[in-house]
Amino acid sequence: MKKLSISKLSKPFQVEIDNIASDKSISHRCAMFSLLSDKPSTIKNYLRGEDTMDSLRIAQKLGATINDDKENNIIKITPPKTLTEPDDILDCGNAGTGMRLYAGLLAGVDGSFVLTGDKYLRSRPMKRVAKPLRDIGAKIDGREDGNKAPLHIRGGKLKPFKYHSPIDSAQVKSALILSALQSNEKSYYKEDLLSRDHTERMLNGMGANISTNSDGWIEIVPLDKKLKPLDITVPTDPSSAFFFAVAAAIIPNSKVTLKNVTLNLTRIEAYKVLEKMGANITYIEKENLYEPIGDIIVEHNVLNGVEVSSNIAWLIDELPALSIAMSIANGESIVKNAKELRVKESDRISAVVNNLGLCGVKYEEYEDGYKIFGNTTLKSATINSCGDHRIAMSFAIAGLLCDMNIEDTQCIETSFPNFNEILDTLKS
Ligand code: S3P
Repeated sequence: MKKLSISKLSKPFQVEIDNIASDKSISHRCAMFSLLSDKPSTIKNYLRGEDTMDSLRIAQKLGATINDDKENNIIKITPPKTLTEPDDILDCGNAGTGMRLYAGLLAGVDGSFVLTGDKYLRSRPMKRVAKPLRDIGAKIDGREDGNKAPLHIRGGKLKPFKYHSPIDSAQVKSALILSALQSNEKSYYKEDLLSRDHTERMLNGMGANISTNSDGWIEIVPLDKKLKPLDITVPTDPSSAFFFAVAAAIIPNSKVTLKNVTLNLTRIEAYKVLEKMGANITYIEKENLYEPIGDIIVEHNVLNGVEVSSNIAWLIDELPALSIAMSIANGESIVKNAKELRVKESDRISAVVNNLGLCGVKYEEYEDGYKIFGNTTLKSATINSCGDHRIAMSFAIAGLLCDMNIEDTQCIETSFPNFNEILDTLKS
């Protein structure tokens, strides 16, 4: 089992980081959406993490040709005329995004498809996409009546829909949008809080017609022709960059400049929470390519406890790292209405509190969140990542304050292969 030993930083750092992992959500979508065009898509800075490489391999198994110019970090994806039925299973690895979005896409494609993944992904709920897709005529089956992968999809004609989702999830929304594009009439989708909207932005950029009505319903017009190809430079992933934002926020006299991050408001809420806790944060927007992109500068300041009970879908990947900042902040912090954390790559509520407990942090655990009693001087511990990349990296950052051993760290490769290399640069 892969392990990581982190040693306490002996001095503050002031660094600019320009090689943080590219955005995972956008990279997955590049692989999938390029299949909806009839011309090659050009993707610069595609995330070479395990999750997104799995999505690329699936695109290939569905008939796409991949040209990888490693030297210039440009991947060209040439779609097939029509998607082909693969002669083998489609392995999504650890990626919920891969499995749920491909389920929506393939539900409308003629053929037989089996989507599977690693043991963690096979234990995550899929009914949230299987149920609404079945309701519009998709043939999807799997363990526990279609709730657990492997999922078998027999693609075919889909009916239009009007669906108000009970959860704010970009994965569910994107799966349904991908199915709606293949219908014969307009469909409508609603969520209570706008979840990350890369799907709408990218597909509209390719020529699709997806808009939000004044009453909050997203209207999806089916495709009457193939889309334009993507020509995109994938920005830095704000969720990956956030580990270094927390590092700068918790280590006195430290400062980090995070380069070329997507500043999409559905993705930078955790920075706003850190700001509310007291960190000094500046956003410098530089360009707009499907979404606003720029630099984020984070400087240490005294941190205070915070209550997090709204906009949870905008924080779902960053709450583990925020919990490290909460542990050393003055006073109590509370996370509520965050039950979704229990069905991510791990049960993030129990993974966070159990590991914080090992570091000497006092907490209370609730079904939908936790309370952290701050003012803690973290103590060295051996952490179990529970196979969850966000848990492993959050506690690696805590290790900058005290020595930390993290067990089962292969998962970091799913989203941030050069995490450790960048962490090492903070010491120099
Ligand atoms: C993602 C959506 C989020 C997020 C995941 C990536 C996406 O999941 O946690 O890491 O790319 O659509 P949910 O939509 O299930 O909340």
